[in-house]
Amino acid sequence: MSTRSIRDLDLSGRRVFVRVDFNVPLKNGVIGDDTRIRESLPTIHYALDAGARCVILASHLGRPKGTPNPEMSLKPVAARLQELLGRPVAFAADCVGPEAERTVAAAPPGGVVLLENLRFHPEEEKNDPAFGAALARLADVYVNDAFGAAHRAHASVEAIVRAMPEAAAGLLMEKELRYLGEALGDPARPFAAVLGGAKVSDKIGVIENLVRRVDRLLVGGAMAYTFFKAQGKPVGRSLVEDDKLDAAREIVARARERNLQLLLPVDHVVAEKIEAGVPAATLDVDDPAIGERMGLDIGPKTVAAYADALRDARTVVWNGPMGVFEIDAFAQGTIGVARAVAAVRGTTIVGGGDSIAAVRKAGVADRITHISTGGGASLEFLGGQTLPGVAVLPS
Ligand code: 3PG
Repeated sequence: MSTRSIRDLDLSGRRVFVRVDFNVPLKNGVIGDDTRIRESLPTIHYALDAGARCVILASHLGRPKGTPNPEMSLKPVAARLQELLGRPVAFAADCVGPEAERTVAAAPPGGVVLLENLRFHPEEEKNDPAFGAALARLADVYVNDAFGAAHRAHASVEAIVRAMPEAAAGLLMEKELRYLGEALGDPARPFAAVLGGAKVSDKIGVIENLVRRVDRLLVGGAMAYTFFKAQGKPVGRSLVEDDKLDAAREIVARARERNLQLLLPVDHVVAEKIEAGVPAATLDVDDPAIGERMGLDIGPKTVAAYADALRDARTVVWNGPMGVFEIDAFAQGTIGVARAVAAVRGTTIVGGGDSIAAVRKAGVADRITHISTGGGASLEFLGGQTLPGVAVLPS
């Protein structure tokens, strides 16, 4: 079932409320990565070109726990957006009430307004209907372009839609749903998923859903050690979730039943601790010489095996790094996989902050078909869950 699109709305002369995900890394007022702001530009331009009376943008930033916190103000984002758009962006110091209403009313025809952090009000995360209605009063139509926040049933995502006469998905939201939806629903095959990261528990929903759909599942990162321990392999002091050993065995059994290739690392880089400059060694995964060390990256034989498994894939989904890639000595596995994903002649989808940082570090970001702006949202989507922010939009 497809969701109504911004392209189905008449925006001419109307105030358009666009929920965006401007939850960008911010330190001392400096934006570390403006990808999410850039990705919202097509929808903003679309609304302005369609004759919107004004575009009102709203987002959360960080987790200020319902109280104003100047370190999590969206003001620096307004300045960056203004540069990127090449037109003035008015900033409202509150997202509801007289300040917001005044700023919207004062906007010139075709003006752009950015509201202050929605999460400065506790009602946002409570999905409070009155707060949703207060936001709705600022505009005539609602557009959700915040795929990254679509898994949150919050007032600006959910309650507001019930208080607004018309609502639709923005262009970024549509693009995310199209790529991720096609991968799950109608993937070109072979379809391979590469899953990494620290914990099996974070990815269990995704693995269970993907095991039913993919042809190959490649596992890396600390998550692999729970599988190894379940198989009786030596894991030293590697991160293992003892309460997930049965879940790991179950996944292996399910993969075997379905005849899909489940690939686990064959070698790894081990060290005493997670620290730059510590001595590291590369061992096969069944080598007991790991002793009391921990596995911190996949080794070169694994990179080669994973590159082989990806070579003829036509759809690849990747979420989660293969090791502690922030430290160069443990980054080679993740970078190798990033290159192998980029070399695939098919649709490649990368999600999750760490994997995105990895494709950038490897210099291959421009060779990935779709880099998702959603971390938690893309995981929930790939886990087969319904996103409340999508479910509430009309079809
Ligand atoms: C994200 O960065 O994944 C989204 O903006 C959601 O943020 P949250 O996890 O704080 O709800």
